[in-house]
Amino acid sequence: MKRILVVDDAEINRDLLCSILSADYLVDTAGDGLEAMAKLKEGYKDTAALLLDLCMPRMDGFAVLTQMGQMGFLPHIPVLIISSEYAVEVENRCFELGVSDFIHKPFESSIVRNRVKNAIELFSCKNQLEQTVRQQAEAIEQQSRIIRMQEAQLREEKPFAYLMMEFRSAIAEVETKLQVLNTEFSLKYNRNPFESIKSRLKSPESIFEKLERRGYPLTVESIREHLTDVAGIRVICSFPDDIYRLAGLFVRQDDIILLRKKDYIESPKDNGYRSLHLIINVPIFLSGGKKYMKAEVQFRTIAMDFWASLEHKLKYKKHVANADEIALQLKNCADSIARMDNQMQDIRNKIDFSRE
Ligand code: GTP
Ligand code: MG
Repeated sequence: MKRILVVDDAEINRDLLCSILSADYLVDTAGDGLEAMAKLKEGYKDTAALLLDLCMPRMDGFAVLTQMGQMGFLPHIPVLIISSEYAVEVENRCFELGVSDFIHKPFESSIVRNRVKNAIELFSCKNQLEQTVRQQAEAIEQQSRIIRMQEAQLREEKPFAYLMMEFRSAIAEVETKLQVLNTEFSLKYNRNPFESIKSRLKSPESIFEKLERRGYPLTVESIREHLTDVAGIRVICSFPDDIYRLAGLFVRQDDIILLRKKDYIESPKDNGYRSLHLIINVPIFLSGGKKYMKAEVQFRTIAMDFWASLEHKLKYKKHVANADEIALQLKNCADSIARMDNQMQDIRNKIDFSRE
């Protein structure tokens, strides 16, 4: 049987509560706060609930609550205040001090039994939940500690540094190919198919995070096999048709192998994102010979690039207020940008046509 402690200076109340609760619990009693604290210090862990009067000589109920808080007893025991009619402020103060519930006088035996039972059950549910959450948080922390360790180990290893060198070379190869096309175009047609190129090598943190998220092992071979965007090249074009022309010329080069094309211009993402993504194999030339490396080349217009950098902020920022409203505004902007890109292209075509 669970033990509960009834604290009240009036003997009649103690006796009454004892008689109501003794069928279900081992009921211990105390006549004031001091006596209650002495009993709690001895056995707070074995106390399933505390029924506490507020007005008592020597040490009142508030002082008991305060001391229980200081001594760390409150997270272990649900406290029910045995009250005569108290003002709302008094009850609120009790809740702030960590009280679970109230049992009002005069005592109605079924209500007393139910309140005590509920308070004990709810309290233990809450504690179990908190414990589960704590255990899960610890497990996650433990897991990420392991990942950080593996990541640090791998990062120190030569094969990883070598692989990163290879991806860096792949970026350089792609950039050169595109720059050559751009220079040729500007001489031949007096225009540049792209405005700028931004390249990035995926950071070790981001590489390991992605492998982990997709359930792949954290090894150099696994990076080579499973990740297509360690070498990332972003080509920013002025007009949508430049994107297709340039991408077409690029993949037609006989040493480029197109592995995958994702045309988010033809089929925009739901959020409005429009870009052409090419996953390719590009050869690099090392002392040991030719080696194909994966790379991701994204083509988008200047206006869309501007949009994507703003949208990226929304995606990676947690707890943005009005996120839905912002997402809708962004979608509208993306659609306007697409219309405007096409209008600008029409205008350019007219200018070019009238020049010829
Ligand atoms: P990731 O795991 O993010 O690489 O996505 P994925 O492998 O499903 O490929 P996807 O082609 O959808 O995205 C590749 C990259 O394109 C992303 O890493 C971003 O750089 C960019 N991208 C794709 N979708 C969006 C988008 O909706 N908004 C923005 N700002 N960028 C995007
Ligand atoms: Mg990707």
